[in-house]
Amino acid sequence: MNKFLISVLSLSIFASCALDAAVYKGQNEFVKKCVKCHKAGQAFVATKKKKEWNSIMKNKGEKLIEMHLQSKEADAEPSREYFESKDFSKTSKHLKDFLLEYASDSGNVPACN
Ligand code: HEC
Repeated sequence: MNKFLISVLSLSIFASCALDAAVYKGQNEFVKKCVKCHKAGQAFVATKKKKEWNSIMKNKGEKLIEMHLQSKEADAEPSREYFESKDFSKTSKHLKDFLLEYASDSGNVPACN
């Protein structure tokens, strides 16, 4: 599957739910910025518990930034500019809401209930 299809697919999975505004913003950001590298999308969010996402996203995503900036993987390199930008610091709060909303122990799945 090509990248375009994958992002359309993940968009439509996520878009089927009416969400809280902050969660929705975070979800948009996730689809736009993270899914291109973390293709599993929703499944990727569910690899961590609320507590883990909380600590990763604390202080405007300090740990998340660090993980990507310090990674020795060449694949992480294109994300550096984004993680160092104002864009990221502005939306990190929404992103956190979204990640916590769908953490593995949140009991929420994107197919709405
Ligand atoms: C340009 C590609 C790229 C982008 C964009 C990117 N990441 Fe990553 N990310 C990586 C790579 C590569 C690693 C692995 C780093 C390592 O292990 O050294 C990683 C690691 C991680 C990890 C830790 C690994 C784990 O499974 O525990 C998390 C969490 C994560 N990314 C979340 C995100 C989120 C959330 C976003 C969007 C805000 C994002 N990433 C954007 C490439 C990317």
